[in-house]
Amino acid sequence: MTPIRIIVCGFGNVGRAFVRLIEDKQDDLKNRYGIAPKIHAVVDIGGAAIADTHGLPLDQLRELMDSGQSIERMASFGRPGMSGAAILQTLSADVLVEATPTNLVDGEPARTHINAALKKGMDVITANKGPVVLFYKDLQERIQSSGGRLFMSAATAAALPTLDVGKLCTAGAHIRAVEGILNGTTNYILTRMGQEGCDYTTALQAAQDLGIAETDPTLDVEGFDTRNKIILIANQLFDQCLGITDVETVGITGVRREDIEKAQTDGRVIKLIGSVRWENNRLCVKVAPEALEADHPLAGVHLSEKGISFDTDSMGRITVTGGHSSPTGAAAALLKDLLHAYCFYRE
Ligand code: HSE
Repeated sequence: MTPIRIIVCGFGNVGRAFVRLIEDKQDDLKNRYGIAPKIHAVVDIGGAAIADTHGLPLDQLRELMDSGQSIERMASFGRPGMSGAAILQTLSADVLVEATPTNLVDGEPARTHINAALKKGMDVITANKGPVVLFYKDLQERIQSSGGRLFMSAATAAALPTLDVGKLCTAGAHIRAVEGILNGTTNYILTRMGQEGCDYTTALQAAQDLGIAETDPTLDVEGFDTRNKIILIANQLFDQCLGITDVETVGITGVRREDIEKAQTDGRVIKLIGSVRWENNRLCVKVAPEALEADHPLAGVHLSEKGISFDTDSMGRITVTGGHSSPTGAAAALLKDLLHAYCFYRE
């Protein structure tokens, strides 16, 4: 049985859902995959909880979550005021799961967490897009010199497999273009506006109530979350180093109900699309609302479901849909990366 010591930074919707999954699936993880993940430490804004060698007791963690208490209050293990940076300096573990909110100004505190973990040779599994979008090149260099690995499924549309399909399932094919509905919140809003005539504000509030919108929903509706995901997908699949200024980005705040109704009359449906296309040997990446023809493979992707479609030279068009946005879906993507790291692609 391989024990895996995990430090979880960020104990909001996604960090909590990840800990719940580890508890719910612990027998399955042992029996099917031969791994025994241990939550070695959990850190949030007010402090941390740190385990002895056996990991934090998952039943106590669940009770704490169910009672809405913060992590630093955990009996026997709580450390009020202790930061992620301090934990990563003092503790050794195998994996950092980075699930703090995305910060697109300086990537903090996630950048400090990720850099410290890589410096120790730990693997990093991130749901946080900030540091990977802002400091992609720097991170690649750190990975080269660290021995740690970086996994980012949860940052690239989470439960919808994007990188796995683009890297592994299309190996040997040339990808000519990628189109994706990569943000559940905006797809949810556009669907509710189109199917029920719901107004924008009500639909956004409903997406926030579902826990799928970003802490700052501007990231969703202005297209920034889609932009961040398509940048990472482009960088990973096409060996690029694109940053946020390389991508023309238009969100959905300018889409009116009349636009949606007009598109419907023409047999089309408006979706927020992140795309990557080769044009004159140059990779063009953009985010914009597009009126898709009814037979487009992404036209039937509704509510918080997402989708990605690859146009390839030798495999034709490959489309994956589903993987709706939810904290559990994001946590499931973190768990998938953990299994990829320790069971499928162990180096
Ligand atoms: N806010 C995102 C979405 C989830 O709506 O898809 C995290 O990327």
